[in-house]
Amino acid sequence: MTLRRTKIVATLGPASNSPEMLEQLILAGIDVARLNFSHGSPEDHKARAQLVRDLAAKHGRHVALLGDLQGPKIRIAKFEGKRIELKEGDLFRLSSSHSRTAGNQEVVGIDYPALIQDCNVGDELLLDDGRVVMQVELKGAEELHCRVTIGGPLSDNKGINRRGGGLTAPALTEKDMADIKLAAEMDLDYLAVSFPRDAADMQLARRLRDEAGSTAWLVAKIERAEAVADDETLDGLIRASDAVMVARGDLGVEVGDAELVGIQKKIIAHARRLNKAVITATQMMESMIHSPMPTRAEVSDVANAALDYTDAVMLSAESAAGEYPLEAVQAMARVCLGAEKHPTSQKSTHRIGRTFERCDESVALATMYTANHFPGVKAIISLTESGYSPLIMSRIRSSIPIYAFTPHREAQARVALFRGVYTVPFDPASLPANKVSQAAVDELLKLGVVEPGDWVILTKGDSYHGTGGTNTMKILHVGDPMV
Ligand code: G6P
Ligand code: MG
Repeated sequence: MTLRRTKIVATLGPASNSPEMLEQLILAGIDVARLNFSHGSPEDHKARAQLVRDLAAKHGRHVALLGDLQGPKIRIAKFEGKRIELKEGDLFRLSSSHSRTAGNQEVVGIDYPALIQDCNVGDELLLDDGRVVMQVELKGAEELHCRVTIGGPLSDNKGINRRGGGLTAPALTEKDMADIKLAAEMDLDYLAVSFPRDAADMQLARRLRDEAGSTAWLVAKIERAEAVADDETLDGLIRASDAVMVARGDLGVEVGDAELVGIQKKIIAHARRLNKAVITATQMMESMIHSPMPTRAEVSDVANAALDYTDAVMLSAESAAGEYPLEAVQAMARVCLGAEKHPTSQKSTHRIGRTFERCDESVALATMYTANHFPGVKAIISLTESGYSPLIMSRIRSSIPIYAFTPHREAQARVALFRGVYTVPFDPASLPANKVSQAAVDELLKLGVVEPGDWVILTKGDSYHGTGGTNTMKILHVGDPMV
């Protein structure tokens, strides 16, 4: 059996809430369940999270939970008649003083008064993910007067972006701060921060996370033009995070579709180089909201991200609100497996000619070099406290599975996001030191992953507790006596 290495993040929502559907999605192989804090009550999220944990445990699977903070998405208010139709050349006003419930053909309210200050004559504003575009012609104290350049329907609460980015809204709103506490209560494994501008936004999120008592790893959603404006900002943001998401919806609107693909490749490469996990998100299987089959373009998009060596690909509305959530997960799984057969997914020239920063990093990378060059190696066992050692290993392209052996629930769930990493619950401290290697290999024999005559690489540290201590790599011959 070939294991899929590229992980699948599936957003939960009305289409995937029932225990029956959720169970099917877990059996179809979702690795991370995403709870979108933009919708639903705390009680909804708690119930959903519990269901995911119960069903995953029932099937012996490790599914991580990711909470996605709403962030400062700037939106128009509501219309009297729910929607209007704008035509190219129309004049339209965005107003901070107009009634929030009574937009019309000429004007609509906005919740965010700073938009007026942030914008200037000549700016291009993109509404509803760029489906409607207008240019600022005049700026009043409380209103932007705009000329529609691309017309279309506009309905209640659609988002607003500025081409080129640069809106000043801080990344964490009051609601986000409350949701960070909720994430702590729910013991979530990952927490995604929307619209961070730079490292400082992530540092604030980290402080609030710590104060709330959460251990969730922080995911920076890269979705503002200024976050990718130069390498220094991007790398600073990545370093301040535990993982990143290429959030292509807002990012694509701000940077334009011509730039998006190159930027996706750059974010994935930079994240991996800086030892962080990376998720590629938004509209990957969009047509499957209404169709049981992906388009060829979607197949190519998912495969392309897998070939770029993303850790995970993500489903949004496809699994949350679509008509074919199960088919979407199955299609993603199939396409990833196909892409992983390509030689560029299996061979690595990564970090040749580079120096390493840490002892555990050196051992992890030596492990991958050996695994990729010694044909008898069938699996890697990484004894890990936090998941850090397997994370570094999985930055390297390979076809050899990496098994994170850990007694901790948090680490077991966390590694579900890492490409090519699988979990085996295991506590080396409960065994005499000279029995650990044999006991670990026995677990893989039980799983049918290895057989006598295969080689296995095992990494560990001198003590069986504490993160960062990996200093040993052993090459073990399955079937021979081990100490
Ligand atoms: C486990 C092992 C230790 C190892 C550590 C590495 O605790 O028993 O021998 O040093 O994991 O953990 P890390 O979080 O750095 O991957
Ligand atoms: Mg977004």
